Amino acid sequence: MKKNMGWVNSFALISLLVASSVCQVVAMPSSETKTTEKKSPLGIVLVAFGTSTDAGERAYGPIEKAVRAAYPGASVRRAYTSNIIRKKLAAQGKKTLSVDEALDQLQKEKVSRVAIQSLHVAVGAEFEEMLCDINRFQTERKKPFTQIYIGRPLIESRQDINSAIRALRADMPAERKPEDGVVFMGHGNNSGQGDTTYLAIGAELQRHDPKMFLGTVEGALEFGEISRAVQSVGIKRVWLQPMMIVAGDHAINDLAGDEPDSWKNMFAKIGVSAQPRLRGLGEVPGIPDIFVKHLQKAIEKSH
Ligand code: CO
Repeated sequence: MKKNMGWVNSFALISLLVASSVCQVVAMPSSETKTTEKKSPLGIVLVAFGTSTDAGERAYGPIEKAVRAAYPGASVRRAYTSNIIRKKLAAQGKKTLSVDEALDQLQKEKVSRVAIQSLHVAVGAEFEEMLCDINRFQTERKKPFTQIYIGRPLIESRQDINSAIRALRADMPAERKPEDGVVFMGHGNNSGQGDTTYLAIGAELQRHDPKMFLGTVEGALEFGEISRAVQSVGIKRVWLQPMMIVAGDHAINDLAGDEPDSWKNMFAKIGVSAQPRLRGLGEVPGIPDIFVKHLQKAIEKSH
């Protein structure tokens, strides 16, 4: 009995932690029977920060393809949360959707259930903002959807970390020599819980392969710390790869750019030759499947 109570208590604690995000999206209970509910039209929105570089399709494309294959009857949309990026793309004649616009289209299609799949690496500021957008839409439109499922970001559990690392290791180029290091660049968060996820990914990377490291832009794992770790084990050459869904602006400039403060050049300065590999996580086989699993979990656990 005591054991059970302990379990209940820790479950309550977990629920409390999960419930601490800024915006809560509460799925409205439906009066329909489960069978009808399962048959009612499903809309899926894949939500990413977005990129104005042409790396977007390369990374988001395979994820969208995997999602469409898993849910062939669903109406699928892709949405970018960054207004700046959507404006830049619009100026290039490329039309993209905001979360609001994607939901509006699905409402007009008379979709009753909507699954929102986050294409973020970790729960952080961007994910929280996405929840706020969805919440606002449901409130302002007087709850047009009977069900809203939230597919969590790529890294939610230790199992996700290990699946992602296995995928990344299997994807290493043949030219990587056993003595070469690999340094990944994640997008840290200066506040909030995002960095805790990156610290965990970094630790697991080291456990799988002591020559693999994770640093972040704008966050906990600064270049200085990572470069010292690389040097301390005598690594002379590193492969540089983004731990971001898209090899976009940060990867192109902060990781591999020609400015003196890019990681490539800062490694060169300390005598470590750096080989950038501009490949977003979305391009790595196995990664889209993790997103599909999160989407399935979100949809299925509600039934
Ligand atoms: Co940034």
